[in-house]
Amino acid sequence: MNNKIKIAPSLLSANFANLENDIRQCELGNCDILHLDIMDGHFVPNITFGTPVVKSIRKITKLPFDCHLMISNPDCFIEDFANAGADMISIHVENQIHTHRVISQIKNCGKKAGIVLNPATPINYAYEVLEFVDFILLMSVNPGFGGQELITSIFRRCESIANFIENHNLRNIEIEIDGGVKFDNAKSLIDAGANILVCGSGIFSGNIAENINTLRNSAEETIKG
Ligand code: DX5
Ligand code: ZN
Repeated sequence: MNNKIKIAPSLLSANFANLENDIRQCELGNCDILHLDIMDGHFVPNITFGTPVVKSIRKITKLPFDCHLMISNPDCFIEDFANAGADMISIHVENQIHTHRVISQIKNCGKKAGIVLNPATPINYAYEVLEFVDFILLMSVNPGFGGQELITSIFRRCESIANFIENHNLRNIEIEIDGGVKFDNAKSLIDAGANILVCGSGIFSGNIAENINTLRNSAEETIKG
């Protein structure tokens, strides 16, 4: 594991009636990234929020925004999300024929580009484009909802990607895990080669800042111990 461990709270589990308060708590907990789940009710069976919300919260925080696009035709919206304030933009490979082209589109906007794989998507799908991305997001639940249980195949999937990255000297590529991340599996995910942990329901209940610290400490045990 070469990259710094990063904690990325997923705003999907935040209090939408007071996003500013929850974002301040995230800042207080020194999180690294804010993970924004964009769902269109078509690619996934749920609808969340779009560029107006991203634009509004962009005004109140300097935290990097990681826009996870769970939408059909993401290529039509890359510039919109880039202009709204995204710093990282990821697209699912399952609904994108021209994955390489959309990665270039994201990079041409000056943003970090990522690909996302659902739990049932063969891992070797990523190998053809890995050298062109800044990060890969591996779903550890089926996308659409927070609060689901982590699917344990994520550990071997993460190891396969980490080995590929190592063997091909692509070491700057970050591995992000999304879905069912909790205090008790954070260390195993880092051990499997991940460095960015997305966490929604595990962070946004109780003391948000404290939860971020606990998650980071659990993840970093790997390095200390
Ligand atoms: C699910 C989203 C996740 C979700 C994670 O489709 O991509 O980012 O918010 O939530 P938890 O951590 O509760 O599984
Ligand atoms: Zn997500």
